[in-house]
Amino acid sequence: MLVNRRILLIITGGISAFKSLDLIRRLRGKGALITPVMTAAAAEFVTPLSVSALAGQKVYQDLFNLTDEAEMGHIELSRSADLIVVAPASADVMAKMVAGHANDLASTLLLATDTPVLVAPAMNVRMWHHPATQRNIVRLSEDNIHFVGPNQGDMACGESGLGRMAEPMEIVKTIDQLFMDMDGKKPLSGKRALVTSGRTHEPIDPVRYIANRSSGAQGSAIANALLSAGAEVEFVTGPADVAPPVGVQVTRVQTAKEMLKAVEAALPCDVAIFAAAVADWRVVVENDSKMKKENGKLPILEFAENPDILSTVAHRDVGRPALVIGFAAETDNIVKNACAKLDKKGCDWIVANDVSPETGVMGGNENAVHLITAQGVDTWDRMGKTKVAERLVQKISDVMVEE
Ligand code: CTP
Repeated sequence: MLVNRRILLIITGGISAFKSLDLIRRLRGKGALITPVMTAAAAEFVTPLSVSALAGQKVYQDLFNLTDEAEMGHIELSRSADLIVVAPASADVMAKMVAGHANDLASTLLLATDTPVLVAPAMNVRMWHHPATQRNIVRLSEDNIHFVGPNQGDMACGESGLGRMAEPMEIVKTIDQLFMDMDGKKPLSGKRALVTSGRTHEPIDPVRYIANRSSGAQGSAIANALLSAGAEVEFVTGPADVAPPVGVQVTRVQTAKEMLKAVEAALPCDVAIFAAAVADWRVVVENDSKMKKENGKLPILEFAENPDILSTVAHRDVGRPALVIGFAAETDNIVKNACAKLDKKGCDWIVANDVSPETGVMGGNENAVHLITAQGVDTWDRMGKTKVAERLVQKISDVMVEE
């Protein structure tokens, strides 16, 4: 998405200017073309030589450099970019932007352009919370300036709070997102997603079946969030209380075996999410006609284990989706059991939730989940199933954009 995008990177004064070097490296790694501009204060924190070496471009610093004016005037410099990024953006440069100052190269470029601008503020926590800065942020947002960060944390000055510059990776993601928005693209445009949802019904006879409890609400919410993120969605669903979202490609099934067949037919895909509550067992012989009561004699049913759909797909040598996500519905030792499931089933992520009856998760509108990945366990607050779906899809988009 960043290949051959022309980014004018304005580095202003602040200790986090050192992170701009990493930002340049990452942006160039994704194929962006960086033209760096530094204020006099920025040059006190990082050397123009380092910036220029990493950017593979000369650094523009001086408004009145005649050579530069002959090569490329400041108007041309700001207009030839697809995006202007100010990182770090000091309180001072933001104040200048609000007031429309043009007394150095950076402020002049920012005034002389109609190119979209992204600002990554970095400053001391008190400077950030000062009414003047807060006022400036509102004004800049009204002027359609985009923001990333600042983040919370410890600062070089020894204080702690809001004001740390966003991490280079976050800035890169935001830039990616801005270009997608400019192109009218969404984060998962061009990606194919597969979702299993609902429950399976394993017939005993024409009127009876074995099933799990599941409304299909979480699976539908995930499919919806994937659609909103621009993905093409294959939705394989067993019986559910919630209708499939409009816009997905639906395949309706009843049993686990049918679900596996439908899932395999829907491959290949980029991401597969297994939200269905699949019955673990089926009866070996399904009775063709209704089983009748026989004077108190109890029927004996022989069970067979159903295929594990998630595990089958996750262990495929050929055509395995790049990202395979399972769910772990647990009532005890949630994280421990879910981690074991992640290993056993061979999926990349597992969304673990407590489905004990007292949680009301089954059939309810809310879910409290832990997202388990190779990076560790991320515990989310209890929230609506729609919010869980949006957050999960945001994470999916983040890794798919990184690819
Ligand atoms: N799953 C599946 N096929 C099965 C059973 C489960 O695809 N036959 C998937 C579910 O969709 C879910 C994950 O595996 O993403 C875990 O399901 P869960 O019911 O929590 O686990 P089980 O494998 O059934 O294990 P157990 O019942 O022992 O907890």
